[in-house]
Amino acid sequence: MLEVRTEEGKPLEMDYIKAEILLVMLAGADTTGTAFQSILRFIMLNPTTYTKVMTEIDEATRAGHLSAMPQYDEVLKHCPFYVAVVKESLRLYPSASSVFPRLLSKGGMIFDGQFAPEGTEVACNPWVVHRDENIYGADASEFRPDRWLESEDKAKLYNKYNMTFGYGARGCLGKDIAMMELYKAPLQVSVGNMDMGNAVNIRADRAASFFERSASKPLMKRT
Ligand code: HEM
Repeated sequence: MLEVRTEEGKPLEMDYIKAEILLVMLAGADTTGTAFQSILRFIMLNPTTYTKVMTEIDEATRAGHLSAMPQYDEVLKHCPFYVAVVKESLRLYPSASSVFPRLLSKGGMIFDGQFAPEGTEVACNPWVVHRDENIYGADASEFRPDRWLESEDKAKLYNKYNMTFGYGARGCLGKDIAMMELYKAPLQVSVGNMDMGNAVNIRADRAASFFERSASKPLMKRT
C-alpha cells in the first residue's frame, strides 16, 4: 500500500492506509469468530436445538452424506436444521451490530414523510432490524431456528431484510467465504467433537474427528 499511487500519481494518505489495514485485520477474523461463538452458545443453551443438530449430523453421517471434511453443498442439502441454526444465530447476534452509515446521493430521500437532502448521513442498525416484529412476527426476539424452515416465502423475506453482512454496494466482500466457514467448520471441529450438553465436557478422545467417532461409537450418548 505504501507503493500504491493514485491516478494523480500521489501516494495514499497514511490515515487511509491505516483504515484499510484495520479493515483487513478486523473484517474477516473477529466477525467470523464472533459468529462461531454465538452459534455454539445458542446450541449449548438450548437442549432441544442441541439434540436436533446432533441427530441431524449423526443421521447424515450414517447415511454417508457428509464427507470427512464436510462440503458446503453437503451441509446445505443434508443439514437444513443446522443451517437454520446458523442463520438464526446471525439474525439475533449479527457480529457487526453497529450501524453502517451511508451518505444520501443526489436528490435525497423521503423517510416516513420526512425529506432528507443529498449528503445526509443515514444508517440502519442490524440488531434492531433483525428483531422487527413486522418481519419476524411476535416471537422476533426468540431463538427459534425452525422459523427458517417453515415457509419458503417467509425465509425469502427474512433473507431480504437480513443485514448481517451489511447491505448494497458496500456490503461485505467476504460473505461467501464467511458462510462457507460457518457451515463447514463447526461441524468439523466443534459440534461433533464435544459434549455440548455439558459445556465443560470436551471429549479429548473424540477430538481427532467427528467422523471417526461416528463410525465407531453410539452417536447420541456423550457421557
Ligand atoms: C460472519 C462473518 C462476517 C460478518 C458478519 C461480516 C460483516 C460485514 C459488514 C457488516 C460489513 C459492512 C458492510 C456495509 O457497510 O454494508 C463488512 C464489510 C467488509 N467485509 Fe465482512 N463480515 C464477515 C466476514 C468477512 C470475511 C471472512 C472477509 C474477508 C475474507 C470480509 C471482508 C470484508 C470487507 C473487505 C468489507 C468492506 C467492504 C467495502 O467496504 O466495500 N468479511 N463485513
